[in-house]
Amino acid sequence: MISRRQLLAGAGVAVAGGVLARAIDQGLVIPFDRPGLAAWEDWRRRRYQGPLALVSAGLLASSPHNTQPWRFAVGTGGVDIFEVPERALGPMDPFGRERLAGLGAALANMALAAPLLARPAAVRLLPDPANPGHIARIDLDARAANIVEDPLIGMIARRHTDRGPYAGGPIDAASRAALVATSPWPGVRVLLFDPASPAGRLFAALTIRATEAIVADAEMMAASHAWFRHSRRDQDRHKDGLAIATSGVPPLLAFAGAMLPEPSAASEGEYWLAGTREKALPTASLFGVIAVADPHDRADAVRAGAVWQRLHLAAVARGLAAQPLNQLPEMIDRDAELRRPPGFAAAAAPLLAGTGLRPTFLFRLGHPLTPAPASPRRPVGDVMGAPARLAFDVEEARLRDLR
Ligand SMILES: Cc1cc2nc3c(=O)[nH]c(=O)nc-3n(C[C@H](O)[C@H](O)[C@H](O)COP(=O)(O)O)c2cc1C
Repeated sequence: MISRRQLLAGAGVAVAGGVLARAIDQGLVIPFDRPGLAAWEDWRRRRYQGPLALVSAGLLASSPHNTQPWRFAVGTGGVDIFEVPERALGPMDPFGRERLAGLGAALANMALAAPLLARPAAVRLLPDPANPGHIARIDLDARAANIVEDPLIGMIARRHTDRGPYAGGPIDAASRAALVATSPWPGVRVLLFDPASPAGRLFAALTIRATEAIVADAEMMAASHAWFRHSRRDQDRHKDGLAIATSGVPPLLAFAGAMLPEPSAASEGEYWLAGTREKALPTASLFGVIAVADPHDRADAVRAGAVWQRLHLAAVARGLAAQPLNQLPEMIDRDAELRRPPGFAAAAAPLLAGTGLRPTFLFRLGHPLTPAPASPRRPVGDVMGAPARLAFDVEEARLRDLR
């Protein structure tokens, strides 16, 4: 006969089993292999050689809502990266400014990986005026050469957006100076603010106001929610988007949250606003802005993303955590899209007073409390496409022969 205690113990095991199965389904427990995370391992193990190695690095870059708005091609003269406008955030990014930043981030990783090929490489931005979606070509010289690797290459697989609370405490002057110097382009500037300074307080207040405005905008929230992958099945099938496991909640809370039904866009918004106000902003050691003269200039939008990627890699190299906080530029664009008075743009102006620049990417930095988890990626085989337009490639080949 089964005793009451044995029965209860059996029921307990069944419940625990159910909880575990659900946690696995939410991507919180990694049981064995995760197809959505295989791309990280591909890069770590250098599974791809030659030009495909650049693609393997590029697709690990940061992108808005992990939309991965890219397609790559290996052409005769090098590697191309193209925009995929359908992988979009709609009213969260009405002009595709953030999408271009994601492409710039991929380009930064590819440029870092180029020395692996032992051929001189040169990046050309927007090389084909007839095809604006052709974001860049990395020209590869046919001659072999020994090229020194940038130590940041080692950070590509370690960089993850950290949305949790940070430990507080200052960031040393040498790190600040190194992070400010990340941009190689004079037109793309990095500015850092102490949270206790007037500019830092304005940064926090505007970020909260912009988050409130997004949460109150049902269309923006629906567009954001469309990239949320609640089940592990969806995470591994789509290999993109956001998930509870990377949302910055402590593992136990995430575990409990994963037991609940899929959250609505509205409850996601409430959670996001509370997290921004109570954890993200108060625990940051520094706030930062990447600024350009015209955030909608396509080349500068790409460059701003490349600067973010390099800055995040440099932060990781110094043991720091980082998270973009782009609610403010998103609301500046939303006002423009709806032809409303530029309230958020005007409120942001004092942050960059005297620079003649406008904000295009906002972020926070700090000391990590726990390691941030990796997010899914579509692997090399899922992101390869045809080379550039035939006419462009023929002209390129002709010019190469003339050289
Ligand atoms: C242009 C751009 C805007 C982003 N904005 C935000 C943001 O406002 N908040 C946030 O938590 N992450 C933001 N991110 C980070 C992405 O969500 C993140 O890179 C993506 O989910 C992939 O995760 P990973 O960076 O950990 O690899 C942004 C990234 C880019 C490139």
